[in-house]
Amino acid sequence: MSHVLLVTGAAGGLGRAIVARAAMTGAQIAVVSRDAQHLVDAFGEAHTNSPTHIVADVSTHEGAQYAVKVCVETLGAPTMLAHCVGNILLAPAGRTTEAQYRDVMRANLDSAFFTLGAFVSAARTAAIPASACFVSTIAAGIGIANHEAVAAAKGGLEAMVRSAAATYAASGMRFNAVAPGLMDTPAAAKFLSSTALREASAKQYPLGSIGTADEIAEVMLWLLSDAARRVTGQTWTVDGGFTAVRPLVR
Ligand SMILES: NC(=O)c1ccc[n+]([C@@H]2O[C@H](COP(=O)([O-])OP(=O)(O)OC[C@H]3O[C@@H](n4cnc5c(N)ncnc54)[C@H](OP(=O)(O)O)[C@@H]3O)[C@@H](O)[C@H]2O)c1
Repeated sequence: MSHVLLVTGAAGGLGRAIVARAAMTGAQIAVVSRDAQHLVDAFGEAHTNSPTHIVADVSTHEGAQYAVKVCVETLGAPTMLAHCVGNILLAPAGRTTEAQYRDVMRANLDSAFFTLGAFVSAARTAAIPASACFVSTIAAGIGIANHEAVAAAKGGLEAMVRSAAATYAASGMRFNAVAPGLMDTPAAAKFLSSTALREASAKQYPLGSIGTADEIAEVMLWLLSDAARRVTGQTWTVDGGFTAVRPLVR
């Protein structure tokens, strides 16, 4: 079966890594960003053999519906969704403004929910088996200081994934998430802006070094593929041992 892969947040670090890997599989790919220039910068001008560009803000119901509609009209109903929209906020709850909180919820949870809804509607209308993979964070599974807003949003995302897996299992649809630790992408640039910061971060991970977008992309594409046909409702942690291995003494 020829796959149609919809990638949201496609111009970001993880999105680009997914598109690069998926291009090698022969899948037809639609890439979504809020900004047309981000897509051109990441993937070049749209042409016959490059991903289909879709400009939409999937953190709104209307934007998510539009993104999926354009994909259906140009490539067909998406059989796979890699939802890579999100951001990071490091701040304790007492110092998080309402605007910051709303932005985190919009980027991480609203976008996931609205994209999920549009994706499953299209898959059910087309009567095709489909799978989706979302992106959480290790801060949703354990208590990491100063992550309250992101943890709330991503914890909601993980719960949403489990419920969707239950709702649509009988329709042959699968829903999973990955939970990365710190990943070397633009979203994490300010935490990795010097050699000292990089070394300090790497020391927190039992396996050392900083995670890469390509490592997460590989796991996401596996979860989306038929090879993972018995896997649904799961959050797969990919964190160099951060959450499973303690105590860590260096
Ligand atoms: N990097 C890390 O250390 C890390 C760790 C754990 C989890 N994550 C998660 O991994 C995923 C991928 O992030 P990344 O590291 O690749 O970051 P990134 O390079 O910043 O890419 C994220 C993309 O999300 C889109 N986006 C951001 N805020 C949005 C909003 N309010 N509404 C709609 N779109 C928005 C942006 O796309 P456009 O501006 O092009 O629309 C951006 O390019 C995210 O869910 C993030 O939370 C990252």
